[in-house]
Amino acid sequence: MQYQFPDNFYWGSASSATQSEGAAFEGGKGENIWDHWFKTEPNRFHHSVPATEASTFYANYKSDIQLMKDIGHNSFRTSISWSRLIPDGTGEVNPEAVDFYNKMINELIVQGVEPFICLFHFDMPMAMQNMGGFESREVLEAYADYAETCFKLFGDRVKYWFTFNEPVVPVEGGYLYDFHYPNVVDFRRAATVAFHTILAHAKAVSRYKAMEQDGQIGIILNLTPSYPRSENEADLKAANICDLMFNRSFLDPAVKGEYPQELMELLKQYEQLPQFEDGDCELIASGKVDMLGINYYQPRRVKARENAVHPDALFMPEWFFDYYEMPGRKMNPHRGWEIYEKGVYDILTNLRENYGNLPCYISENGMGVEGEEKFVKDGQIQDDYRIDFIKEHLKWLHKGIQEGSNCFGYHLWTFIDNWSWSNAYKNRYGFYRLNLTTQARTVKKSGEWYAEVSRNNGFN
Ligand code: BG6
Repeated sequence: MQYQFPDNFYWGSASSATQSEGAAFEGGKGENIWDHWFKTEPNRFHHSVPATEASTFYANYKSDIQLMKDIGHNSFRTSISWSRLIPDGTGEVNPEAVDFYNKMINELIVQGVEPFICLFHFDMPMAMQNMGGFESREVLEAYADYAETCFKLFGDRVKYWFTFNEPVVPVEGGYLYDFHYPNVVDFRRAATVAFHTILAHAKAVSRYKAMEQDGQIGIILNLTPSYPRSENEADLKAANICDLMFNRSFLDPAVKGEYPQELMELLKQYEQLPQFEDGDCELIASGKVDMLGINYYQPRRVKARENAVHPDALFMPEWFFDYYEMPGRKMNPHRGWEIYEKGVYDILTNLRENYGNLPCYISENGMGVEGEEKFVKDGQIQDDYRIDFIKEHLKWLHKGIQEGSNCFGYHLWTFIDNWSWSNAYKNRYGFYRLNLTTQARTVKKSGEWYAEVSRNNGFN
């Protein structure tokens, strides 16, 4: 086999609670920000499709896990919905949710699919948002209690935990760029939410470690590399600031237990530094992860700004760079994102050289396709483009491992086409096609191909 992966390599896919369970108002679940936002602004969602339309995993988890098995999964990541488990965010635990998550986790284990469980994938309980979300320190405490409840309930069987999925995204979407609730545009508040998310993460890690459950805990970060247009000093500076703001703002505290000095100085200079309290630095230092999940879809290419910032413009990361479209870049025309497979190798190399080569896995990589039905032939989506996409990324991943990177798995985003926040079902990513009317799942060509890769633990 030309591309053979290490023994016990994890092959699988990822999804999240809100994006797959459905039953948003059933089983005693409380409201989360997505349920609330849809009620107030349904037009913000593609074709006005809400999370209630997510792909019925709550009802069909058993047969869905069988489908995972059919395409060779030995692992699967999903999340626990905080508002399902603890409807008010704090206090009473919902017994129906405990029952559901127990059954789902047990079924995965019985089928030989290792559960990777994330505690927070964008879905803040509305009761917690009403208290200020992660702007409030009380909410951090509530999150830590929720995390501990999960460890107590499921930690005897779940051995791979993740505190957050892409924690920078709710900061960007909710507090800078207006694509998540609560649609605030305010850098200082964004920085506070980011900082408090790291404190919440660290609290969860400390509580987990104190319980000595013989598992591992990590965080999932979208480590989109920032590539400068050129080696010109001004372009390098632009790329470095991007890296500090979007990557190292979470990567450094999670892996090294402290923020980069350069980032602190930059925020201080522009009066955007969040409020530190006594003990915060020690807490962050105690939140170092055992392992890392890496989400990678596309690179970020930047250049030095070409124009001066308008004197009345709000402070934004874009004060320091312009986006750059590299001539000749390879595109996924169905999603409008660049494809740059080597990015995955660059991330692994950076972790190996600068972050102690901690254990990591690719927790998301994938290709969204709008209008994918046009690729149906003989009743099946012929997604050769997705097979090529995965293969080319896996080749770079393989090279990274050959050179010593400590990577233990690869998960595609996603298993069955799922509901994706305000994009709802616009972009399809799954190994299985979802028929939105009948909820029927049909394996795509990529699913069959992946089954072979997983069975052979590699490909030619
Ligand atoms: C990832 C998120 O960044 O992107 C997922 O972790 C999301 O939750 C996925 O569904 C795809 O996003 P989109 O906008 O292309 O549907």
